[in-house]
Amino acid sequence: MGKIFICLSTLLFAFNFSVGMAFGLSDIERLGKKIFKDKNLSLYGNQSCKTCHHPGAGFVDKENRFDPYNSVVSTGSDGISVGGRNAPTAAYAGFSPVFHWDAGAGGYVGGMFWDGRATGENLLDPLAEQAQGPFLNPVEMAMPDIATVVAVVATSNYAPGFLAVFPETDFNNPVETYDNMARAIAAYERSSEVTRFSSRFDLFWEQCKLVGVDVSTIDMTTNLAGLPQDILSISQLKGLALFNDPAKGNCAACHLTTDHVDPSGNVYPPLFTDFTYDNLGIPKSLNVSIADNPVDYGLGGRADIQQVQQWGKFKVSTLRNIAKTRPYGHNGYFATLETIVNFYNTRDVRPWAPPEVAQNVNTTELGDLGLTPMEERLLVVFMKSLNDQ
Ligand code: HEC
Ligand code: HEC
Repeated sequence: MGKIFICLSTLLFAFNFSVGMAFGLSDIERLGKKIFKDKNLSLYGNQSCKTCHHPGAGFVDKENRFDPYNSVVSTGSDGISVGGRNAPTAAYAGFSPVFHWDAGAGGYVGGMFWDGRATGENLLDPLAEQAQGPFLNPVEMAMPDIATVVAVVATSNYAPGFLAVFPETDFNNPVETYDNMARAIAAYERSSEVTRFSSRFDLFWEQCKLVGVDVSTIDMTTNLAGLPQDILSISQLKGLALFNDPAKGNCAACHLTTDHVDPSGNVYPPLFTDFTYDNLGIPKSLNVSIADNPVDYGLGGRADIQQVQQWGKFKVSTLRNIAKTRPYGHNGYFATLETIVNFYNTRDVRPWAPPEVAQNVNTTELGDLGLTPMEERLLVVFMKSLNDQ
């Protein structure tokens, strides 16, 4: 299966360059794309999923990407309301498993959103379950109820497509239709148009596979000249070695660089997350409304969790397309990659503002890495190889 995926993704890679995007979507993926882009599904007809998850910004909010110092959270359909968190990417999210306790890892894993609250238990798919939130969220698309959302779909120009994909649809049964809308959106988010695996890094990973090199083993002891050349720059190769090395960046401890193997045994390139939760000790963002959200306890603040041991923890982000998704962190505290890397390196030895949540700050894996300014730069340069083409 691994082989099949490699051939396919090489093909997609070549094809993406010549033909561009509207390529090869299945019927359900195409339907999901129409729903994803439909602004009529918001209260004032001015906002779609794409507004905050735009392909031109690695599937995050474009306004934030282009003004990461001042605009760190998204504005809702009403043009006034803002949420308390930075929009994460909708790409690659679909690999997150149903939220569960992992005894081996000694922590929670999976789910959707920064705190995993779209667990996936209802639809057995966190990505689909997540897609049911924004339409009704008052600070996002702000529709009054499911029936109103479904009524828009029933009169849309893609209603016939909906009936073709879900022939049993009865638009007068909004609950079932709403579930199928979410499944279609999730199919699109998982499609090769969103979850592309078309970065320089992916090309490098494929070439490494062909010569039997596991990219997760590349560290400070590796002879970089012996690796496939002319795909990543020499600085990026050095950055990858720092990223993996436990005695240097140690980034891969959480942002995995091992192959991803899904439950059916399909092999994918690394996802740069293990879908676990951690408190990095990020300070309170002054750009996020304190009135609405005095302290964000993340995972531990969820009504169904409420454990001090989980306070301040947020889901490990994928780093795919990271150079396109400014600002960084759940509250957008860091406007640039340079600053967040500097924070990892110097949190405990420089006068950073105190953590928003003091409990559970991870001091064993980050905070005082002892990296030189050049090494920090190499990590940033490496992360730029994760942009999809
Ligand atoms: C107004 C901006 C806005 C709109 C509109 C919006 N989102 Fe989001 N999205 C966000 C924010 C902010 C978060 C993070 C919220 C949190 O974690 O509490 C988020 C989180 C997500 C995530 C979770 C990713 C992860 O790794 O956990 C996915 C997937 C997603 N949105 C998809 C969608 C879809 C699908 C739609 C349309 C149905 C949509 N969004 C509409 C802002 C938006
Ligand atoms: C102990 C686990 C862990 C380690 C080690 C780690 N990270 Fe993270 N990383 C996280 C978590 C958790 C988040 C999200 C935290 C939040 O926003 O509160 C994150 C977020 C990020 C983000 C922002 C993502 C976004 O979409 O906003 C970047 C960039 C990043 N990490 C890079 C790195 C680099 C570079 C290293 C190595 C120097 C590293 N990380 C080491 C757990 C880790």
